Amino acid sequence: MDHFEPRGGVLHAEGVALDKLAAAVGTPFYCYSTATLERHYRVFVEALAQVDSTEPPLVAYAVKANPNLSVIATLARAGAGADVVSGGEMRRALAAGVPANRIVFSGVGKTRDEMAAALAAGIYQFNVESEEELATLGAVASALGHVAPVALRINPGVDALTHAKISTGKDENKFGIPLARAEAAYALAATTPGIRAMGISAHIGSQLTQLAPLEATFARLGDLVTRLRAAGQSVERVDLGGGLGIPYKRDEPAPPSPADYGAMVAKATRGWNVRLMFEPGRMIVGNAGIMVTRVILTKTGAAKRFVVVDAAMNDLLRPAFYSAWHDILAIAPRAGEMTATVVGPICETGDTFAEDRVLTPLQAGDLVAFMTAGAYGATMASTYNSRPLVPEVLVDGDSYAVVRPRLDIDALLALDVIAPWLKPQAN
Ligand code: LLP
Repeated sequence: MDHFEPRGGVLHAEGVALDKLAAAVGTPFYCYSTATLERHYRVFVEALAQVDSTEPPLVAYAVKANPNLSVIATLARAGAGADVVSGGEMRRALAAGVPANRIVFSGVGKTRDEMAAALAAGIYQFNVESEEELATLGAVASALGHVAPVALRINPGVDALTHAKISTGKDENKFGIPLARAEAAYALAATTPGIRAMGISAHIGSQLTQLAPLEATFARLGDLVTRLRAAGQSVERVDLGGGLGIPYKRDEPAPPSPADYGAMVAKATRGWNVRLMFEPGRMIVGNAGIMVTRVILTKTGAAKRFVVVDAAMNDLLRPAFYSAWHDILAIAPRAGEMTATVVGPICETGDTFAEDRVLTPLQAGDLVAFMTAGAYGATMASTYNSRPLVPEVLVDGDSYAVVRPRLDIDALLALDVIAPWLKPQAN
């Protein structure tokens, strides 16, 4: 469910007509809906109402999915914590008003500087992904006079049955500590100065469209909790990660709902006697955002008809990188149908958003929206082909705010420095 609906023949974001917004901010741009963000967060929290947790579950929004400060602030206001994977993301979470005691730091390669900054901020938990990292974190914390609250991220050796590039829980993946070494690693954590071993975590991948791999993972975590306690260890928290998939195609069978997920979690974790934690990203922001672009021209090749839009793979990488599908809707659709390949202006054939897509008829000047672009959209953008990053707009009811202005081309050039010996000489 989202709040992007046609009204009077024009697609709106909540109460804001997207053709008017395009005229005001220019194209391309990303547009996020406050009501959808809040709804998805609430739906996720409500889906967890039945779970057995020693404290209310911590829902730590995975900032990587959409790190815009206004998006994080919207979720923070609703009560969300944050899952961060870099010092930069931690700074964003704090700047957007997420209390430090709701911040979790994940990632396979945290630097000493990042560890020190997170310790100074007083974050809730480090998800530690290797014995080597444990030693470093212990040393950094001890040197600073801190004790780092730690969950060990376990790699359960489960195939999440998703795209290979976003699968993280298999034996061959770089993430976490192999399940077979979990007890030894926990014993090590419990005796490492500067470390307080508080729990375990797992995250097996993203855009999961089946619950079975998650269920298998949680069963392994449950057994591990039992074994750790039998060995005399204390386990107070279990972080179940993110990964719940969302619908990208309007007419495709929907992935498991948050309610299905919540019911499965409640069953799988009954009696664990821990605080449960979650790191949802895409599920919260994916359908809360779209990217709006304008058709530059349509052209006919020897074999195909093309629609060339003013957004490109640098603005929305997912189709080029993961062959991902995004529905494409005209902002003011005409009656009828056309089949076309939708491409951007970048000088690569990979700059293709959709092959032979059935669309409503499009002409130069028309506006179209790439739906479900709120997660891993703007944040994966680059300035390839010297294309400035596009603006992001947050809508709330009938109001909107530009929450990231378009990067000015002069500002882009100003990021580079001409080496002193290359400076043009005055004659
Ligand atoms: N926790 C950890 C440790 C993660 O690595 C991720 C995502 C999440 C939580 C959030 O997962 P989610 O609930 O969003 O599935 N760029 C890719 C997705 C990469 C996901 C990376 N990790 C895409 O566009 O599909």
